[in-house]
Formats: sequence, C-alpha cells, structure tokens
Amino acid sequence: MERYDVVVIGGGPGGYVAAIRAAQLGLNVACIDKRGRFGGTCLNIGCIPSKALLKSSEKFAQTRHELAAHGIEVGDVKLNLKAMMHRKQKVVDDLTNGIEFLFKKNNVTPIVGAACLRSANRITVKEGKGNSRDIETKTVVIATGSSPVDIPGLTVDEKKIVTSTGALSLSKPPDTLALIGAGYIGLEMGSVWSRLGSQVVVIEYFDRILPGMDGEVAGAFEKILIKQGLSFKLGTKVTGAKTGRSGVKLTLEPAKGGKTESLACDVVLVAVGRRPYTAGLGLEDLAVAVDQQGFIQVDSRFQTNISGIYAIGDCIPGPMLAHKAEDEGVACAEIIAGQSGHVNYDAIPGIIYTNPEVASVGKTEEQLKAEGIDYRVGKFPFSANGRARCNRATEGFVKILADAKTDRILGGHVLGDDAGSLIAEIVSVMEFGGSAEDIARTCHGHPTLSESVKEAALAVAGRPIHI
Ligand code: NAI
Repeated sequence: MERYDVVVIGGGPGGYVAAIRAAQLGLNVACIDKRGRFGGTCLNIGCIPSKALLKSSEKFAQTRHELAAHGIEVGDVKLNLKAMMHRKQKVVDDLTNGIEFLFKKNNVTPIVGAACLRSANRITVKEGKGNSRDIETKTVVIATGSSPVDIPGLTVDEKKIVTSTGALSLSKPPDTLALIGAGYIGLEMGSVWSRLGSQVVVIEYFDRILPGMDGEVAGAFEKILIKQGLSFKLGTKVTGAKTGRSGVKLTLEPAKGGKTESLACDVVLVAVGRRPYTAGLGLEDLAVAVDQQGFIQVDSRFQTNISGIYAIGDCIPGPMLAHKAEDEGVACAEIIAGQSGHVNYDAIPGIIYTNPEVASVGKTEEQLKAEGIDYRVGKFPFSANGRARCNRATEGFVKILADAKTDRILGGHVLGDDAGSLIAEIVSVMEFGGSAEDIARTCHGHPTLSESVKEAALAVAGRPIHI
C-alpha cells in the first residue's frame, strides 16, 4: 500500500500550497484532487479567469471611452469575445500546468480522483471507471474549498441562470444581466459584462452594497458603479424565477416585505455567497465535527476533533479568500512538521478587482464604533495625487483608521486605481503592529499613487501636505 506522511485532499490555493510547504519541510506528501487539473476554484473557475476577463474587458472599455481623452483616436472598436475567452483559458491552462511543475520540483505526488476518508490514516481514492485505490497516511489535510450557495426557487442551468462558473463563459454579452448579490463576485462579473455591452441590474438584499466593507467606501463605490452604467435594486430579495425561451422573469420583493414586482432579463447570475464543500469525504462516518453551516471545526492548530485530521481554507470558518487559504496551508504544514505556524486574521486584505479597485484590511469604521474603540480617521483623495492626475485615475480615496491613543493602525481602506497593491503597505505595517506615524514618516517615491497612503497617514494626525 502507498504510504505518506501527509495527504492533502483538494488542490486549490490552500491545498497545493500546504502540500508544497509540507514537502519543503521534508515530509512525504501527496495531493489529491478530483477535478483533473490542480488549482481549485481559484485557478480554474474563480480568481484567475475572472481577473483575465476583468483586464480584457477593461481594455475594451478604455479603448472605447478613455483613449480620446489621452489624445488617441481609434476607429471602430469591435469585440471578439471568442478570442477574449481563448486568452482567458490560456492563462488558466498555463497556471494550472505550473502547479504540476511545482509539485514535480518539490516531490509532491499528485493524485487525480475523489478521496473518501476511511479513518484518520486511510483514504480510498476513486479514480473513475470503477477504479479505486487505498492509501495510508500519518496525517490528512482537508482543503476541499467551497461551492456557490443557491437561492430556493432558482435552478442553476449555467446558461440562463448561472453561477460565477457560467458567468465566466457566456457565449455573448446578454442584453440584460441581472445579478443577485452585490458582493465580490456580483460586482466583478457585473463590471465585466457591463463593459462588454450588457445592461446590468444588481439586486441586493441589504440596503447597501458590499455589506462587510466600510460603509463610506461602499457608498462612494456604488456612485462610481452607477456612473459606469450599473443599476442597483437594494433592500430587495428574489422570490422566484421563470425561465422561458427568451430569458428569465424574476419575481422581486422588498427585503422587509411588501409589493412584488417582476424583472425580465436574458441571464441571471446568482452570487449570494459560498458554502463549505465537503460532500463525499466521509466526514459523517468518522464523526468529524462541523458547525451548523457545514464548516469543519478546527482548533487554533487547524486540527479537527479527530487527531491527525486537519482542515484549512474555505471549508473552515473565516473569509473565503485564496490568500487566507494559502497562509493557512503554510501554517498547517509547519504545525504538522513540528514548527509553530500562525495566521494573523487581523491583517488579511480583501480586494475587489473592479475599476477602480476596492481594498480593505482590518476594522471598518462601523466595527470600531460597535466595539466602542476610540479611533482617528485620516483620508486622502486621489484627485489630489499628482500621479493619479497623470493617469486620469482620480476617483476614490485612501482611508486609514488608527487608535486614538496609541496611533496603532486598526484598519485601512482604499478605493482607487491599483488599490489591491496599495493596501499591501498598510497590511505590512499592521503586521508589524505599526502606527499611522510610521507610514507618515516613511519616504514614498514621487510621483506614485502610494503617496496617497502616506498623505492619509499624515491626515490621521491632521497634517496632510497636499490637501
Ligand atoms: P459575498 O458574500 O461577497 O456577497 C454576497 C452578497 O449577496 C451579499 O452582499 C449578500 O448580502 C447578498 N445576498 C445574500 N442573499 C441574497 C438574496 N437572497 N438576495 C439578494 N442578495 C443576497 O459572496 P459572493 O460574491 O458570492 O462571493 C463568494 C465568495 O467568494 C466570497 O466569500 C468572496 O470573498 C469570494 N470571492 C473573492 C473574490 C476576490 O477576492 N476578489 C472574487 C470573487 C469571490
């Protein structure tokens, strides 16, 4: 029988990173995934293909609407969606192949098949066509990720009613696209199809977009998206859908109850969150503890209630983000190897890759108020940043929240061009337990967008230079 020190079930960003780190630490490791291609949701049908389409659609929209302002005249601009999708697929293929290369380099054994736990030390892998094999292991890391949440009454067919998977592969821009959920997926995919010519309507249960984000940032972002052509039906829930030959008729109702209305559209994207995916793993038979929503329960060392079985990533509680899963993968592998791996959950950035981007780390103002923490705010608009003006990217601002007494940074929020990269500075300073003054006293290159982070830090103490 095959024997390993560590078997990782699931080859997404959590699983494949855990496998590589464990192998780096000298352990004999296998990584099992049933998809046939490693990389999980993120590389195959999530982060990577969506970012490829976001970039392509942004170039299309900029060519149509932006270049003239730079003194560049173009003729007819045509969309070749097939070529755009082909490029997206090439990016996915190259990156998923890259994981197999990394496995080879690090001596991780890749196994394609569906894993089922027989005990903490034995796994059966169903390889298809009736073939299966049993493997033995000292430890198991479950990294099986998540799947989209459905809405009762809406049957996903990935053609007219789609999840993010179908939304990444539509054969033409729908005339009207209804999005259910103004979260990460809804706003990113809504931006893609709006830029490619669809009329996009976003239906959100709460009376604001991005419920977990800082309210001021979300409000300013909503205004920008409306200017870009998206429309919003906030405080609204979807109670039914009828699919016909020409499209879908949705029944909408105010979230607080009241008169229903209907909305006709060509395609509906359901993006109301994701839930842990653990089907077929055999968790019930081993009595691995899960919470009410199905998240696997782990201790601070990522171990479940069964000794030797660990879990990381989207299938355990916490933000469902690839980089959170990666960091947990590293920490879990280090713990299994006898080291003291650790994840700082207070410094995990969240980024929405729209244009402008939205990035956030740590506490929002709403959270600080609710927790009764005395804080100071420093803000700086990109309209006052020289480089943003050169780039014609003046929308948005940087906002830093610091403890009123100690000046320690408690949260950072950026709405603007390249916010996802700019937030990294605030994340690093938070990781070191740093203060707004630390950023304010650090020399930033000129002219760069990062000077706005410095100015927001200066503004915490009421002394920005450029506003
Ligand atoms: P989400 O949690 O970001 O947003 C879901 C939205 O749907 C929320 O605003 C919620 O209030 C709303 N909602 C829930 N039920 C509803 C209903 N019945 N009717 C109307 N609105 C309803 O979830 P999303 O966008 O599906 O993304 C799933 C996960 O994937 C998230 O946890 C996110 O972190 C991750 N993701 C991350 C990305 C990134 O890092 N850029 C990109 C895409 C997804």
